[in-house]
Amino acid sequence: MTNAPDHPQVVYLEGDGIGPEVTPAAIEAIDAAVAGTYGGARGIEWQPAAAGKKAFQELGTPLPEATLEAIRATKVALKGPLETPVGGGIRSLNVALRQTLDLYACVRPVRYFPGVTAPVKAPQDLDVVIFRENTEDVYAGIEFEQGTPEAARVIAFLTGEMGATISPDSGIGIKPMSVHGSKRLVRKAIRYALDNGRDSVTLVHKGNIMKFTEGAFRRWGYEVAADEFSEQTVTEAELFHPDRPPELRGKAPPGTVVIKDRIADAMFQEVLLHPRNYGVLALSNLNGDYISDATAAQVGGLGIAPGGNIGDQYAVFEATHGTAPDIAGQGKANPGSLILSGAMLLRHLAWPEAAARLEQAMARVLQARRFTADLAAVAPGSELLTTAAFGHAVAAEAR
Ligand code: NAI
Repeated sequence: MTNAPDHPQVVYLEGDGIGPEVTPAAIEAIDAAVAGTYGGARGIEWQPAAAGKKAFQELGTPLPEATLEAIRATKVALKGPLETPVGGGIRSLNVALRQTLDLYACVRPVRYFPGVTAPVKAPQDLDVVIFRENTEDVYAGIEFEQGTPEAARVIAFLTGEMGATISPDSGIGIKPMSVHGSKRLVRKAIRYALDNGRDSVTLVHKGNIMKFTEGAFRRWGYEVAADEFSEQTVTEAELFHPDRPPELRGKAPPGTVVIKDRIADAMFQEVLLHPRNYGVLALSNLNGDYISDATAAQVGGLGIAPGGNIGDQYAVFEATHGTAPDIAGQGKANPGSLILSGAMLLRHLAWPEAAARLEQAMARVLQARRFTADLAAVAPGSELLTTAAFGHAVAAEAR
C-alpha cells in the first residue's frame, strides 16, 4: 500500500485462546515504534472487529459480515489466532478469510534473531521470504470421503472415462492449480525481490512427479519472469550457460534477480545445507505450508515467526501460530510473532522506518535473552517474562 494517510484506520481481530494476551502486547509495541519514529505526526487508529469463537458465541457466526466490511473499508488488518468453532458452518476460518478477501499470497519472512536458541549450528545463515500460494492446490477443499456416493461417482468417472486406475475404496482429493493463480503469486514474489534487494527467487515444486500442476507452476513461473520482468531477471540456466564468457559465468548483472527452481524435497535439504543461496521462495500451497513451519523451527520457533496474507486489495497480518489452548490465560504466550507481523503491517503502510524500529527493538530484547516461557525453556539462565512484560519491554525499546 502506498500513500497511507498519517492516521490510518486498521482493523484488529483480537483472536481466541492466547489472542487476548498477545494482541494487546503487539499493539502496544507497534504503537510505541510508530510514536518513537514519527512523534505524534503519524499513528494507527485501531478498530476492533469480531471473529472466531467469541464472535460465534455472541453473534452466532465466527466471521460476521460486519468484520469483512470493516476490513474491506480499512484494507489492512492485524489478526490474532482464531479458533474455528465446530458447527459454525465454516470448515476453516482462516481459509474462509483468505478466500473471501482473495488474500492469495501468504508471505512469511524467516530470519534468525541473535540470543534465541535454535536447533541448527548456523541459524543466522537462513534469511528468506516465503511466498506461498493461498487459494488453490489440495487446500481448495475439493474432497470426497471414502465410501460416499460422491466418491464412487468420481472414481467411476476417472476409471471408466479417463483410464485411471484407482482402488474403489479410496477417498479422493482434487489438486487444482491455475495459470492465473500461479502467475500472480510468482509475480508478487519477483516484485518483492526487486523492491527489497533480494538477489533470487526460487520456484519450489514437485514437478518431476506432478507434471501438470507442480510442473506447470514451475513453467508458468519462468514465463512470468520472461514475459514481464525480462530486463530485471535472469535465469540460473542462462547464468551457467556454456556460451556465457567464463568470467561472467554464474554472475548475475547488478540489480537483477536470479530465477531458479528446486524440487521440493531437495529444497528441504537446501535450507539446511546451503541456506545462503536463497532469498525469496515461491511455492504452491501445500509445499509452502510445510516449508514455512520447517524454516521457522530452524531459526528458533513458531512463536516469533510473522506472516501476512496479502492480495491485490487487502492485507491481513497475522500470528502464524494457533490459539495455543494449552497455555491460554497464563501469561506464557510469546507475542513475538504478532509483533513482527506488525512490522510487516507497518512496511505495508509504507512506514519502513517504524517497521525497522520495531524489529530492532524486539531484536534487542531477544539479544538480552529476555524471553517468554517458550524460548526461556530452552535457554538456561535467561530472564523469564510474561506475555505483557515482553510487550512492555519491546515497547520501551521502541519508544
Ligand atoms: P498452536 O500453534 O495453537 O499450538 C502448538 C504448540 O505451540 C502448543 O504447544 C502451543 O502452546 C505452542 N504455541 C503456539 N503459539 C505460541 C506462542 N505464541 N507462544 C508460546 N507457545 C506457543 O497449534 P494447535 O494446537 O495445532 O492449534 C490450536 C488451535 O489453533 C486450533 O483450534 C487451530 O485450528 C487453531 N489455529 C489457528 C491458526 C490461526 O488462526 N492462524 C493457525 C493454526 C491453528
